[in-house]
Amino acid sequence: MLKKNILITGGAGFIGSHVVRLFVNKYPDYHIFNIDKLTYAGNLKNITDIENATNYTFIKADIVDANQINELFAKHQFTDVIHLAAESHVDRSITNPIDFVMTNVVGTVNLLNAAKSLSPTLSKGEGVFYHVSTDEVYGSLNDGGFFLETTPYDPQSPYSASKASSDHFVRAYHNTYKLRVVLSNCSNNYGPNQFPEKLVPLFINNIGNNKPLPVYGKGENVRDWLYVVDHARAIDDVFHKGKIGETYNIGGFNEWTNIDLIKVICKAMDKKLGRTEGESERLITYVTDRAGHDLRYAIDANKIMKELGWQPSLQFEEGIEKTIDWYLANQEWMNEITSGNYQNYYEAMYANR
Ligand code: NAD
Ligand code: DAU
Repeated sequence: MLKKNILITGGAGFIGSHVVRLFVNKYPDYHIFNIDKLTYAGNLKNITDIENATNYTFIKADIVDANQINELFAKHQFTDVIHLAAESHVDRSITNPIDFVMTNVVGTVNLLNAAKSLSPTLSKGEGVFYHVSTDEVYGSLNDGGFFLETTPYDPQSPYSASKASSDHFVRAYHNTYKLRVVLSNCSNNYGPNQFPEKLVPLFINNIGNNKPLPVYGKGENVRDWLYVVDHARAIDDVFHKGKIGETYNIGGFNEWTNIDLIKVICKAMDKKLGRTEGESERLITYVTDRAGHDLRYAIDANKIMKELGWQPSLQFEEGIEKTIDWYLANQEWMNEITSGNYQNYYEAMYANR
């Protein structure tokens, strides 16, 4: 059997960096190739701890560029793919949908084509092409219930429409070309290294800086939150044990209205910063709702729990505490993002390698 040369896309992003770290450390016999375009969301400072590992290679490349992707497949002989690279922020998809079509749809199809014809394993009915996707493809649960793997797709935002489209292409390549694919659809992640445009890091940072906390609408929308390291562990399980052609929903059975979650963060921040109780909550500012804002997401994660034996390792209270502690202890990481300096790291560290 060929040694595994695993291509992980989007490994400088939030979830991808946790997946790359887990695979590099846990599987010294695999070689992990991290391909990332380093958009605004890509930050090599997320993975400085593994950047010199002998089983790790970083390559700056754009999955939308088919020629570049084909050359990399030919050169490095990727045996498997774990595909996370995407435009991931719903608000940005509302103002600029085309970037989402290009990266999330065209980029995914470029990877499928390269895997189908240029991978030494995937081209021969071996290996795994794993597409990491989102629960948002199922739409909004306005009348109760949970998302199952069989729930019909009903994407409501340009972001979720692009992820639904890429999921369909992945399944189409399995059906048409017998490409060995697996998929997972996960709920909202939180934890270290998340770009501060998303609710949890944005609000932790704003509280620290006494800035307003912009709550969309009435704050009554419900999200199902999972600690990012538990998502990475689930991805490890699906990659190694998932049935080819199947989909696994991933979530923590952990629903919160936005306003309740925000109040938990505010209370914890008051304690950590030595403020009087209620001080951070006074920063809450209700603003115009997100266009087409999905009311509720909730994952039924029984399939992955029963069939693959995955369980979240952290209770929410512990996860949010760890998350807040991480952002408070890594103020430099946040400052580099707000100043834009994080984007110079590639030139400084990699350009001459
Ligand atoms: P992120 O925005 O933090 O990271 C995305 C990464 O992809 C960045 O490093 C970026 O540079 C890279 N990238 C973007 N366009 C690229 C391109 N054209 N070529 C190569 N690299 C490119 O995203 P995330 O939150 O870590 O999400 C990762 C994946 O997980 C996405 O596919 C997303 O849809 C999915 N997902 C995210 C969540 C969540 O809560 N964040 C939940 C479920 C699923
Ligand atoms: O469900 C999985 C999805 O979770 C992923 O596929 C996406 O990539 C990820 O970004 C996330 O999408 P959301 O839109 O749910 O995450 P976000 O952090 O942007 O918002 C969480 C909720 O908080 C949502 O209901 C909108 C609200 N919100 C968000 C921001 C940024 C606010 O009220 N104010 C804000 O400033």
